[in-house]
Amino acid sequence: MRHIINILDLSVEEIEELMDTADDILANPGRYNEVCRHKILATLFFEPSTRTRLSFESAMLSLGGQVLGFSDSGSSSSAKGESVADTVAIVSGYADIIAMRHPKEGAPLVASMHSRVPVINAGDGGHYHPTQTLTDLLTIRHEKGRFENLTVGLCGDLKFGRPVHSLIEAMSRYAGVKFVLISPEELKLPSFVKQEFIKDKGIEYRQSRSLDDVIGDLDILYMTRVQKERFFNEEDYLRLKDTYILTPEKMKLARPDMIVMHPLPRVNEISTAVDDDPRACYFRQAYYGRFVRMALIMKLLGVHAE
Ligand code: CP
Repeated sequence: MRHIINILDLSVEEIEELMDTADDILANPGRYNEVCRHKILATLFFEPSTRTRLSFESAMLSLGGQVLGFSDSGSSSSAKGESVADTVAIVSGYADIIAMRHPKEGAPLVASMHSRVPVINAGDGGHYHPTQTLTDLLTIRHEKGRFENLTVGLCGDLKFGRPVHSLIEAMSRYAGVKFVLISPEELKLPSFVKQEFIKDKGIEYRQSRSLDDVIGDLDILYMTRVQKERFFNEEDYLRLKDTYILTPEKMKLARPDMIVMHPLPRVNEISTAVDDDPRACYFRQAYYGRFVRMALIMKLLGVHAE
């Protein structure tokens, strides 16, 4: 039995295999629509979600399985004080696989220690979001055709943005990748990511407060939302929330083949006027999420198409 708590729980080869399966599902969905018959996915979401929860549920339903769970911790017994460990010990008797989102960093890891079935981290606080990274990698493979030798700009809330942390970990394993870290001082990348996955690996990087100064150097611009829910005071959030707004004018400074990604939801950081630019791929990115999650569920349950 395996759990996916961090993207590094999957080797480069396993990620490649998941991408191949996702692509085969995209091409031949009918081959997969019964593979998880009689299997149950539990989605335990202690924090709001649209894409992750619904794409997990859509993934399991598309594989012929069933889903149960909650999307609001207030409707579960955690509202009465039940611990994550006890919740998972119980739910793992009702389901074959669990996807969990929690506001506390490390909660899915604790869950995995008390579960009888595989646990997938669907986002833990400002820590990690490994299945978002699988979605991001499938997008990069489709849009850029490679993972190597790419200059990846990460812009916005690099401190709390868990998709950023997981994407840096994943991309740091490919040769020739460079990072450009674009953020205000207060939202810089935490040292637990920067030290281990950039500096210690000798990866080339630079930091900038200005998006305009660096956008022309990027193969990928990964925009992020300033994470209001992680701020301790509203004044800081209001001061920082509109630091970066990507507009069609800024896109004129970018290369013709640069792609714009965003894990979504967006607030103001990408103008809707950018949506029609062919380089904007954040809606395609969200679409791919269902297929990589189908591939991941199959892998963890050990099921295959005929
Ligand atoms: N990208 C992402 O995790 O979106 P949701 O919060 O809607 O799941």
